[in-house]
Amino acid sequence: MKQWGGRFEKPTDRLVEELNASIGFDRRLFREDILASIAHCRMLGRQGIISAADSVVIVAGLRQVLAEFEASGPPTDIALEDIHTAVESRLRELVGEVAGRLHTARSRNDQVATDFRLYCRGAILDTLDLVVSLQEALLALGSEHAETLMPGYTHLQRAQPIVLGHHLMAYVEMLDRDADRLRDTYRRTNVLPLGSGALAGLPYPLDREWVARALGFDGVSLNSLDAVSDRDFALELLSDAAILMAHLSRLAEELVIWSSAEFGFVELDDAFATGSSIMPQKKNPDVAELIRGKTGRAYGNLVRLLSTLKALPLSYNKDLQEDKEAVFDTVDTLIGCLSVLGPMLVSARFRTDRLREVAGQSGSLATDVADYLVRRGIPFREAHAIVGRIVVYCVQHGRELTDLTVEDYQRFSPAFDDDVREVTLEASVAARRTAGGTAPARVAEAIAIRGATIAGTRDWVASQRERMPTLESVIAVE
Ligand code: ARG
Repeated sequence: MKQWGGRFEKPTDRLVEELNASIGFDRRLFREDILASIAHCRMLGRQGIISAADSVVIVAGLRQVLAEFEASGPPTDIALEDIHTAVESRLRELVGEVAGRLHTARSRNDQVATDFRLYCRGAILDTLDLVVSLQEALLALGSEHAETLMPGYTHLQRAQPIVLGHHLMAYVEMLDRDADRLRDTYRRTNVLPLGSGALAGLPYPLDREWVARALGFDGVSLNSLDAVSDRDFALELLSDAAILMAHLSRLAEELVIWSSAEFGFVELDDAFATGSSIMPQKKNPDVAELIRGKTGRAYGNLVRLLSTLKALPLSYNKDLQEDKEAVFDTVDTLIGCLSVLGPMLVSARFRTDRLREVAGQSGSLATDVADYLVRRGIPFREAHAIVGRIVVYCVQHGRELTDLTVEDYQRFSPAFDDDVREVTLEASVAARRTAGGTAPARVAEAIAIRGATIAGTRDWVASQRERMPTLESVIAVE
């Protein structure tokens, strides 16, 4: 059964077999492996490297293997070593000795690199779909709350009033950079290693460009040593994912804080919260906490692969087999978290009265009062000091800037006039109309701009999906 048994006089030790086997996890790559094998085999037939008749028989056999694995799952038997061996071994049972011609002009080294790149392409597209859905959810909430006042924070201390839509749109920006990074990673992932052989290239008249086209790759790799040992595409996906999870964890953290009684900014829907086995009153933000917690996995998986790749000599080394589980775990985690976050946000109830009330507390309009004095000709530094004294007065007398009378104000500076009463929450946010500011008009603009970006990402994903190989496309391509 072993592809490489010929040189060996003794069977493999059972413990070695267990350590060596990757079938337990690379079985997930069966579709990618079979589609790439069909493309390879058809190319061998077209180029006369194997006979056209053999090629037809092998392709028919591979189609059957695919149908079987799809129906009942790929095998798990560790004697089969890895998915590449498992596919070939089943093919041999189905079509006999001719199966042995499939591995002409190919090594498992360029084969696994090809399968894994195909997988990562699909994973990037799936992730992007969910990133875009989450952006759309945030965008919808953002327009709903384009005028909802809330406190803005620095150092988790109330700082200046903002609108909730602006806060939510901050996450749309983060996700926009995430999407951009993923698209960039996709470009470097989409290069075909197959045709590099074990490490040095192959002594057959291959048509690598045809295989690249059949599998929807943008082009072929230029150095066989690099092609079989490069896992930058996986590292990039893991780092994109780590950054993306950092963003999700920040949003999750805000939901945890905001849903506490102390803040009381948001109430999570029952369907997206959990209870306590002992405290009947509890409603816990477990989903947000899990997203926050799972971020550790994504970071860990990045460090895991970086560590595996460190100082590896060229070219392929078996260490590289350790690449897959890190990526699978991160992609599964990312997809789980991204899927739940949008629906959780959309179903949550923002307590807009409470947000507005808190927005006006703790001297949150102090900067606006200072800016008022600046408009009356006072240098900003001086205005800052005057308002600082007013704030101390408010703290000592349990008052808010918004309930001081004009006379109160005038005790601190003669520059104050009746119109200081026009310093309000609404006026504060409306005035912040610099590009990127919290003014509702600016938020509406940002929503329109990102709406277009998001539609562009959706179109791009759809166009790349069309290039993803399917059984039909790999069979039909000429
Ligand atoms: N299971 C192996 C991997 O994931 C496939 C390549 C094996 N190549 C080899 N020369 N042993 O990397």
